[in-house]
Formats: sequence, structure tokens, C-alpha cells
Amino acid sequence: MTIENRIQHLLSQMTLREKIGQMVQTHSTSDANKDLVRQGLIGSLFNEADVEKVAEFQRVSIEESRLGIPLLIGRDVIHGFRTIFPIPLGQAASWNTDLVEKAARAAAREVAPTGVRWTFSPMVDIARDPRWGRIAEGAGEDPVLASAMGAAMVRGYQGEDLSHPDSIAACAKHFVGYGATEGGRDYNTADIPERTLRDVYLKPFKACVDAGVSTLMAGFNEIDGVPASGNAFTLRQILREEWKFDGFVVSDWTSILEMIVHGFCADAREAAREGTLAGVDMEMESTCYLDHLESLVASGEIPQARIDDAVRAILRIKFRLGLFENAMPAVPQAPFAAREDDLALARRLARESCVLLKNDADLLPLGKSMRSLAVIGALADSPADQIGCWSFDRHLPDIRTPLAAIRDAVGEATEVRYVRALADEPAQSREADDAAIEATSSSDAAVLFLGEGERLSGESHCRAFLDLPAHHLDLVKKIHALGKPVVVVLITGRPLTIPWVAENIPALLVAWHPGTMGGPAIADLLFGDHAPSGKLPVTFPRTVGQIPLYYNHKNTGRPPIEVERKMPMGTPLDPVGFCSCYLDAETTPQFPFGFGLSYSSISYGPTEATVEGDSFHITAQITNIGSRAITEVVQLYVRDLAGSVTRPVKELKAFQKISLAAGESRIASFLLRPDDLAFHHRDGTYGPEPGEFQAWIAPDSQGGTAARFTLS
Ligand code: GLC
Repeated sequence: MTIENRIQHLLSQMTLREKIGQMVQTHSTSDANKDLVRQGLIGSLFNEADVEKVAEFQRVSIEESRLGIPLLIGRDVIHGFRTIFPIPLGQAASWNTDLVEKAARAAAREVAPTGVRWTFSPMVDIARDPRWGRIAEGAGEDPVLASAMGAAMVRGYQGEDLSHPDSIAACAKHFVGYGATEGGRDYNTADIPERTLRDVYLKPFKACVDAGVSTLMAGFNEIDGVPASGNAFTLRQILREEWKFDGFVVSDWTSILEMIVHGFCADAREAAREGTLAGVDMEMESTCYLDHLESLVASGEIPQARIDDAVRAILRIKFRLGLFENAMPAVPQAPFAAREDDLALARRLARESCVLLKNDADLLPLGKSMRSLAVIGALADSPADQIGCWSFDRHLPDIRTPLAAIRDAVGEATEVRYVRALADEPAQSREADDAAIEATSSSDAAVLFLGEGERLSGESHCRAFLDLPAHHLDLVKKIHALGKPVVVVLITGRPLTIPWVAENIPALLVAWHPGTMGGPAIADLLFGDHAPSGKLPVTFPRTVGQIPLYYNHKNTGRPPIEVERKMPMGTPLDPVGFCSCYLDAETTPQFPFGFGLSYSSISYGPTEATVEGDSFHITAQITNIGSRAITEVVQLYVRDLAGSVTRPVKELKAFQKISLAAGESRIASFLLRPDDLAFHHRDGTYGPEPGEFQAWIAPDSQGGTAARFTLS
């Protein structure tokens, strides 16, 4: 019998209440909820860490409810389960979709034996505002990179066969526009014109649907006055009618009930109606559906067919997962010993996630035969901080800190002098500062660990200021004044504003929150066992006043020109260029999207474009002009010089991560098809428009030389 037949057969046996039960999700394993499970009135349990409680709820659902429909057990396995990989923003910085897919697979394999067969990942919210704490959870500011990363995670979690015991259903979230939250303040308003919604924010979700994602999660935000969890335009017209998505949509935590707070619904009954009719199939945590759907169907406000559609979609995923054959946790309590291959993968992905932002005079890599090395900063030895947000299942004993890894790397030859200064504590102790200065003075070099701890990152952790704490910067300046070689490693869940460090410190590596094996990964790079290859998935602004600042912006009628920055001292009309710029800050970023250095230099020859049928072959010669082999993320950008609507000054269209031996030259080549140039026109139609274009094969969003071509 096919899955669709099995669904139909089961649906025909279900009462309305049992159907509504499938649309109810809770995190609580209370006795009252166990009884609801027994009545068939709960369809999903999530974020229950105790495997035995999960097993008991699953047993009750299968053995004691009338129809024995298994629960779908969900969990936030966002960047690993016990073995934690870099935060998704860090994974995106690797631009290595193969590794990201493998990491998702490893996470699925670790969590599935506990009975969890559904993760609320990948988060593919485009984020152009680093004040938003959740920028850590996504793939940054670009739709093409976020699409590639989201699809890779879906493939990793779901595998070739969703019913395989190691496979788990993925969940693309938060549908849609959550990352455009006003002011970078979580849960806030997102005013997004439909064209931008379609050409930027929806793209990674479409990529996940095309990759076969089983579920989506509706967001907390509103879009142009309509909450994402009650938005028929996105949930029904786009997701179902245009994209033919056949999985199901779960709300976010109480986001159905919160439509009352939004001022969109008068009460819980209206929230149940709006959420269901708009297309949210399962309600997370709040009980509007459980409490009101039966009466809404009885009154005819909700057609029975809509309930059947929701339940059909939920059962479809349960059948595809093989839950009716195998739903019980495979282990009584999840025993845990990290697999060596998973730890090696975590180390490699963390290494490839690190981005080298500066390396004056090739200060890095450091030698291993220094007499002594000062390691300064609490973030060098803080397991909880290095693994970042959404990692509540991490296996702490496996976490290797940078301090431990540095000691391992240099061995007895070098004395490592560690000082726990630069801590995330309100008052920095004078002693720690003095000790840091003393340790640096008496060492050959110093590595400073700066940034933001895990407790400042993630959901509802938004920041109006992105500077380093003043007392941290004071100490960095004092250490720098000692004249010793100083390296800064940034441990962070987001871009920070670090103008003085960027200006004065000779070597700067951003490691994000690098996960369980972040320490060895950082040491591998500091001492040159491997060369950095990461590139920024998000712009680093110079100051928070520049935000939003992103590379694929519009040109405006008066783009910023380089003007001599001065506060107007003359007449009130004393001009500063009459262009889109500031009186008191640069308009350029500290570090641009796509930027990242390595331990050798790559030279890019001129970009060339040749016609190939209806497509274009874009090529450029790239040469490793340095003395060691490295891996380079070669990026293809395009500009549509004039469209029926204004077009971004650049758009990433493709990328390749290629290795080059010292002195090796290679022709980087991309095939650009007309559909790669498609966008939503002034009249709303979608496709490429004829006209003049520029293309760059470049090391980042600011480099490379342009080729022109004409699409007829
Ligand atoms: C949270 C988050 C969502 C998460 C869910 C379950 O509020 O917004 O990303 O998956 O609740 O924990």
C-alpha cells in the first residue's frame, strides 16, 4: 500500500478530535499531556531531553491510544547534537556545502537513536543586521549562499531515505522575513516589499523546498501588517500553490496565540481560525487549535477539508519517516561517546569556518619553537562560550578549548602563559590586566581572545552596540603598546565593530563560536598546520550606525563617492559630496561580504565573458603567487546595469572552493544561464530581462575586474 493510500485509510478512521490532535505539539511531558496523548489529542512532542520520558510518551501513543499513531519527536538540533559544529553563520563562512551536509548527517545520526526524528533546522533567514542575535543561526546576508547552505543541511538531515533510522525530518525556518526584523530587535516588524520578499528572503526557503525539506516553521514576525503565522499569501499562495510544497508547517513557539498580542486576532479562537486557514498545520506549545478547532469546524468557519489537508500532510511525514514501523528510541538513555570521525569532521569544519581578516607581514602562522607565548582572554578557555547558541545537548567533556589545543600544538618547547583577562564580567580585575601585560612583556608573542560569549548570542539576544567592552579595548591597546607581535582571535556569534583592532592589530582571525573542536581548529591555523580558507558570509560594519550595511545594495541616484571626511565647518550648506554618505563615518564596511585571506596570495586575472548558446561562459585565470598550497573560494558576481526596476550593484551567482598548489594557475570557469539573471520585474513577472551586464570572478564582493556582456 502506498503512503498516500495508508494516509487515506487512516484518515477515514479518525474522529475530528483525533485529527485535531495531530495538529497539536507540546514540550511538556506532564501527566495531563500524557493523558491527552492517550486520547490521541497530541501529535508531537519537542525539546524533551529525557529519553525515557520520550519513550514513555511514545509507548502510550502507540499502545494506548485508539489508533496507535506515533508521536513525531522534534528538537532544536541546530548545529550538532552531542558533537557541536560551528554555529550556522560559521558553517556558512566555510562556503563548503559538502562539509555542511556531512555535519548535518552526523547530527542526525547522533540524535535519531534518542527517538528524535525531526529537527527545527536549517534556519535560512537572510540577515543584514548584526544587532539581531539570531544572525548566528543562519547563513548571513546573501540568498545564493543561504540557499546552498540550507539545501545542504536538508540533504544531510534527511539523507537519501527519510525512513532510514539515522534520518530526521528537516524544518526550514522561520518562514518568512524574520531576519528583516526592525532595528535588529527580535520578534519585531518586518516591512518587506513583495519583490524583495521574493528575490531575497524567499529564495533560501525555495531552495530547501526544492531539496525536499519535510517541514517549515512559520515565524514570529509580521510582514506588512500580517503575522507570518497567519499569512495566507506566503503560506498558501506561495508555499502551496506556487511551490507545491507537500510537507507540513509548524508554528513557532506560541506564535499562533501571539497573533492576539500582534493585534491581528481578538482572541484565541480567532487565532486558531487565522492560523489554520492561512496554512499553519501544527501549533507549537499554545493550545488554540486544541481548544477551538472543533467548534470552528462545527460552525463552518473552518472547512473539514482544511483539517484533513493539515492532518494528511503531518501523517505523510510520519509515514515517510517510517514511524509506524519504528518510532521507539533505540537506546534507553542516549549513551554518548563522540565518534572519532565526527570529531575530526567538527575540527575540519571549524577550521574552514575561520576567516583570516588581517595578516600584516605574514605574522601568521606562528612558529612552534617560540620560547614563550602569552594567551590572553577568558574566551580561550571557556567551553560553554565556544560552542555558541542552541547547543543544550552538547557533550562537555569532548570540548577542546583553544588554550588546551595551543598547549598541545607547541608541546614542551614553548611555555604557554595563560591569563584569564578580557572576561565577560562587568568589572575587569586590575590584577588580571596587570598579569596580561606582564605575560605579554615576557613572551615572544601574544594571542588575544576577544569577542562575545555564548550568553550574548542567539534568540532574544539583540545588541544596540557591537563594540568590544571598553575595558577590553583598553587592555588590548596597552598590550599592543608593548611592541610584541599580537594576534587577535575573535570568538563571536555575529560581526562586531572593531575599528581600532582592525586598524592596529597585525593579525586578526574570526572563529565565530566554533563548536566542540574549535580549539584544535584554531591551533591548526595559528601554527600553520592548515591554512585559513573561510570567507565572510556577512558584512562587518565599521560602526553600528552604518547598519543595515550589506554588499548587494542598490546604487541610488547618488552613490557614495570618496569624499574627504570632515564635519561641515563653513556655511550650513557646506557640502560633503551631496551623495549618500555620512558626515561622521565611512560608508564602506570594515570587511566586506565574501572577504577572507590565507597564507598565500591569489592573483585574479581579468574576467572574461563569452557567449555559449543562450548562456555565458565567465572565466578568469587565478594563480597562487605565494609559497604554500591554499584553498580559495572563487566567487562569481553579476550586475544588471539597467532593469525595469533598480538592481543591486552586485549579486553573488555562484562559487567554487578550489585548492591551488604554490605557483599553480587555473582557469576558474562558470556557466551563467539566463535563469541565473532572473528577478521579479516591475510588472511582477519573473525572468531575465535583456540588457547590459557586468560579471566579476573575484575573491570577495569588492574585488576582481569586470567583464561586460549583453543578454539579448
Ligand atoms: C524558539 C525559536 C525556534 C525554535 C522553537 C523551538 O522560540 O524561535 O527557532 O525552533 O522555539 O524551540
